[in-house]
Amino acid sequence: MQTIRQLKPLRKAIAALRAEGGKVALVPTMGALHAGHMALVAEARRRADHVVASIFVNPKQFAPTEDLAAYPRRAAKDSAMLSEAGVSVLWMPDVEVMYPAGHATNVSVGGVSDGLDGLARPGHFDGVATVVAKLFNQVRPDIALFGEKDFQQLAVIRRLVVDLDFNIEIIGVPTEREEDGLALSSRNVYLTEEERQQARALPRALGAAVTAIEGGSDVAEALARAEATLIESGFQSVDYVSLCDAVTLQPITCLDRPARLLAAARIGAARLIDNVPVVRK
Ligand code: PAF
Repeated sequence: MQTIRQLKPLRKAIAALRAEGGKVALVPTMGALHAGHMALVAEARRRADHVVASIFVNPKQFAPTEDLAAYPRRAAKDSAMLSEAGVSVLWMPDVEVMYPAGHATNVSVGGVSDGLDGLARPGHFDGVATVVAKLFNQVRPDIALFGEKDFQQLAVIRRLVVDLDFNIEIIGVPTEREEDGLALSSRNVYLTEEERQQARALPRALGAAVTAIEGGSDVAEALARAEATLIESGFQSVDYVSLCDAVTLQPITCLDRPARLLAAARIGAARLIDNVPVVRK
């Protein structure tokens, strides 16, 4: 695996992969890799001939109050994991390379960025869309893979690709979970032992709400019950538990189209998100 930190050598390395022929996949990450990221790499290897992974902790997607400085950084371990998993190129630019002095262009995807995490984390999805658009232009992959764990991010990127005519297929990869159902996340390291036990209430509350909604219960009541369960289980606050159109992420109150149940709640120093599909039976 080649590790590259500057744009010119990256372009040369991508041209060399292209000369070999076959598909190029991109797996964008912010590092602190876990089994969820490695599932993206494995899926990328199944679907493409060459896998490029990026590690870049993107300051533009963190609000001033968020955990940019504390965000886990483990470059050596991450690099070994990616190399072992068969990644050809690791793109690991510094902030000055990604955003050189004078950088002034931001990408904002309207609509789908606005609700849910867009309300709780103003500017977050503009930061994501800006860096992902740059990564797409830098690597020019045929396909790019993102976890369904960040379902709103996936929806924003799907919209971005359509709206800006990127010729890139976006693949959403199902969430990897611990045995008790907690979704894998780099932010789980913020949980104490006790909070980690309490955190399993999140997938359980979502599962119960899905069962209720798919069984025909009143949607508002099912969502309120999920929120109450989270607070009773030790979460300090709930940002949202919401049933949404799976493409636009507009809130819905009945299952007349593909739907997704999404939640975000705070426990200790962590803000956990999760989501699950909801289908009409
Ligand atoms: O999901 C992430 O790790 C990040 O939001 C991404 C897509 C790499 C952009 O910084």
